[in-house]
Amino acid sequence: MTTHKTRIAVFCSGNGSNFKALFEAIRNKQLPAEIVLCLSNRARCGAMEFAEQNGITTLHITEKQFASFDEFADAMVEGVKKHQTDIILLAGYMRKVPDAVVAAFPDKMLNIHPALLPKFGGEGMYGVHVHTAVLEAGESETGATVHFVNEEYDKGEILLQRTVPVLPDDTAETLAARVLVCEHALYPDALEKLLALQRS
Ligand code: GRF
Repeated sequence: MTTHKTRIAVFCSGNGSNFKALFEAIRNKQLPAEIVLCLSNRARCGAMEFAEQNGITTLHITEKQFASFDEFADAMVEGVKKHQTDIILLAGYMRKVPDAVVAAFPDKMLNIHPALLPKFGGEGMYGVHVHTAVLEAGESETGATVHFVNEEYDKGEILLQRTVPVLPDDTAETLAARVLVCEHALYPDALEKLLALQRS
């Protein structure tokens, strides 16, 4: 019997190290899933290059290519649905996903955030800003969170979370690097959890 492989679209804007970790985990753990699309607002970035090198279809799409935001959102839904996408994984996608896309994939879109949500989330909390805020707040631990995406920034239900220690001599950069290592294990584990939930 052949099991249907869950078809994944990954949305990225940058290096794509989480995308790479997901791609490798699917292969190494033989998860019943495949990445069928890499969507990005940037034509050239680490994620898009990795997709091209690994035979994954890429879609470069930005608001600027369309006359209105609604047209952009509709094209995004269409571009993702065209690949019979079952779930969307946001991996360093630095734009707010249009509500129309969120509505088209209810409970089927995850995001990874480099902190222990609900702390240090929301608008403006991305990249180094998150880790700077964690250090300024004097936290002794931080971490990473994988959560479902809804219309509000970083507010969807949490699927999986893991802690990372903050060390006395940490800078935002050293902390970011430690959290990123955690993310690379956490996101594949969260994907595995979602696949199991969908099959139960
Ligand atoms: C990660 O820290 C992720 O949590 C955040 O953006 C960063 C993306 O890094 N949303 P990469 O592109 O996966 O290397």
